[in-house]
Amino acid sequence: MDIVTYGDPVLEKKALPVTEFDENLKLLVAEMFDAMHHDRGIGLAAPQVGVSLRVFVTETEGDGQRVFVNPEIIMTSPELAEYEEGCLSFPGLYFTVKRPATVKVQAFNEKGKAFTLEAEDLLARVILHEFDHLEGKLFIDRISPFKRGRALLHFQKLIKM
Ligand code: NI
Repeated sequence: MDIVTYGDPVLEKKALPVTEFDENLKLLVAEMFDAMHHDRGIGLAAPQVGVSLRVFVTETEGDGQRVFVNPEIIMTSPELAEYEEGCLSFPGLYFTVKRPATVKVQAFNEKGKAFTLEAEDLLARVILHEFDHLEGKLFIDRISPFKRGRALLHFQKLIKM
């Protein structure tokens, strides 16, 4: 499975909930981990492989592989944190994004088992970034219009190289 890069409309569409926890879902999740590992990512959302479904996976250092199906953000901290983010759909582009420092999320795994998770630091960051993908929101939408313009210009130069 190839990772879709910026410009593809699937990245800016709101993804649909998963209704069947079947073999197709398990296959999708396995393929997403493969694609993420191939590009050395720590998080990947289904729209990034061209599938507009509410699924994302994470694998951050010190934490195992996690699968989030139909996730809901139930709490974010008022405290914000700054971190330099990248996105597999914008290869080579990195910039600082402010997001809540902690997040509480409710989701299902690929087998349909519900769970609740409270995350902080890098895992919170990845969860919030990937959740945005399901809403059709990208990390360039989380910075000022001026910085966004500059980031996009820089990205256009990067992809021409
Ligand atoms: Ni991303």
